[in-house]
Amino acid sequence: MLEVNDLTVKYGALTAVHGLSLTVGEGEAVALLGANGAGKTTAVEAIAGLHDQRDGEVRFQGREISRWRASRIARAGMALVPQWRELFGNFTVMETLEIGGHARNGRAAPDYREIFELFPRLEERRDQIASSLSGGEQQMLTIARALMSAPTMMILDEPSAGLAVGVVQDVVRAIQAVRARGVAILLVEQNFEIAGSLASRALVLSTGRVVWQGDMEDVRDSEEARQAFFL
Ligand SMILES: Nc1ncnc2c1ncn2[C@@H]1O[C@H](COP(=O)(O)OP(=O)(O)OP(=O)(O)O)[C@@H](O)[C@H]1O
Ligand SMILES: [Mg+2]
Repeated sequence: MLEVNDLTVKYGALTAVHGLSLTVGEGEAVALLGANGAGKTTAVEAIAGLHDQRDGEVRFQGREISRWRASRIARAGMALVPQWRELFGNFTVMETLEIGGHARNGRAAPDYREIFELFPRLEERRDQIASSLSGGEQQMLTIARALMSAPTMMILDEPSAGLAVGVVQDVVRAIQAVRARGVAILLVEQNFEIAGSLASRALVLSTGRVVWQGDMEDVRDSEEARQAFFL
């Protein structure tokens, strides 16, 4: 599904990601872990086509996409759920979902009913303005907007950040349901428990480099992860 080889991303003189390689198989869920500033967002944004200063190879569904524009990558079926939610503040829930559908590119349209089954709170608020939603509802809307493009792969950048425990559970359940439909997932997380409930494999990034990778259940015991997270 996704194969990244030797991805390097710079901000001017600063190298934020050094030679990252990873794979995500069809229908697989992989976690990209790391402390603040490790380079997780930079890495996934580069994979999704949002950084020009990048080197390395990104293959998605067999095609080399590292020079593609972000919009083309989205149409090809890779949906990024960004860390800062980036909703259009003055659009309603329904309008936001409609916009998400624009990257669908001929793939079968998800029914609004399916989306609202996953996120009942969004149905109750279908005509509400996005900026007036709570943080948790905005996170759900960001995921729902991505689902509207009928992606084959979803990249989620810290979907649990800043949310109350109960809301996190709703978001995790929704992501599990997305995964159960066969959508491959690359999950950026700092919370091991959440990562463990969604992903079977993990990579740990520390100052832009992969310092550990393996089964999700072994990550806590690794010295490298402990150091990266000061555990
Ligand atoms: N636009 C930018 N210009 C310059 N440096 C940047 C920029 N964005 C990020 N960086 C730097 O790149 C490094 C990696 O940042 P990044 O946002 O990718 O980390 P992260 O792992 O996503 O962190 P967090 O968990 O806090 O979201 C950091 O040192 C950061 O300061
Ligand atoms: Mg980040």
